[in-house]
Amino acid sequence: MEKKNIKTILITGGAGFIGSNLVRAIINRNLARKIIVLDNYTSGSKKNHINNKKVEYIKGDTKNINKIRKIIKSNFDLIFHLAEFSRIVQSFQYFEDCWESNMQGTKKVIELALEKKAKFVYSASSSKFGNSKNEFLSPYAWTKSKNVELIKCYREWYGLEYVIAYFYNVYGPNQIRNHHMSAVIGIFETQYLNNLPLTVVSPGNQKRDFTHVSDIVDGFIKAGFYKKNQEYQLASGKLYTILQVAKMFKSKIKMIPVRPGERFSSKRDSLKKSKRELNFKSKYNLKDYIENFINQNKK
Ligand SMILES: NC(=O)c1ccc[n+]([C@@H]2O[C@H](COP(=O)([O-])OP(=O)(O)OC[C@H]3O[C@@H](n4cnc5c(N)ncnc54)[C@H](O)[C@@H]3O)[C@@H](O)[C@H]2O)c1
Repeated sequence: MEKKNIKTILITGGAGFIGSNLVRAIINRNLARKIIVLDNYTSGSKKNHINNKKVEYIKGDTKNINKIRKIIKSNFDLIFHLAEFSRIVQSFQYFEDCWESNMQGTKKVIELALEKKAKFVYSASSSKFGNSKNEFLSPYAWTKSKNVELIKCYREWYGLEYVIAYFYNVYGPNQIRNHHMSAVIGIFETQYLNNLPLTVVSPGNQKRDFTHVSDIVDGFIKAGFYKKNQEYQLASGKLYTILQVAKMFKSKIKMIPVRPGERFSSKRDSLKKSKRELNFKSKYNLKDYIENFINQNKK
């Protein structure tokens, strides 16, 4: 599948967790003539920068994208859009930030893609699938779901070319730790390193499909570079409860109260299409990853 297909690319959110892994993989596979990264560093970090002459970082917000000269002047074949407020539980407290990035900012990036005749490649979220009947369990899940609708409307209304990939509970290198935007594996790792009990949100039997960032990035590249006007599910295919994950750390556990926005199972659409059309197959598993983390950080 990976015949050379060298592109000029804009990656929004490329200083964040998944975005930085994406930049690295595209460079390593020699798939880019040039990558411009736009990030406002609200949850991203300069520590995630990839030092390569093909990559240029611009500090700015998606809401103001059509005022950033360098971006207005460049042409792009592909826009990978990851610069959004990215966490479920935190979106209750920071709904304003979530709204601005995910609604106002994303609309501007879609419009830029149309103007540049670039394919718009979207980092959708499995949280869209809610508990049942597509309930919107959080401001985050609602905005992510609305953006999927918006992208498809832009296709109908203005001919936008797009790819949508749904990510499931991503973990791995560069994940956020020690920050209010950390997700569960990052939180457990930080607690483990600080000899604190691992806090499991009650009831603990909520299931998630944890997917390694290298698998996500591989599927995202295959979909983004080689497909158009399609949607793909990117997941490991293996479900664990949060309590099972905590126990993998062989550390003390403390149960904490139920939180808003929590899904009790991670419903997943079939992975068959991703397997068939992208040859997508998850290579990593969470158990090995945590075992490796423990070995590297022996107490
Ligand atoms: N991590 C997951 O498990 C997961 C699951 C499903 C979907 N996603 C989606 O993938 C994308 C990336 O997630 P992540 O986990 O890497 O999160 P992240 O917070 O590490 O990355 C988001 C990046 O975008 C930047 N950013 C946010 N708003 C911006 C704005 N308005 N303008 C410019 N930059 C902005 C942040 O500084 C950060 O660098 C997000 O859209 C998220 O919703 C993530």
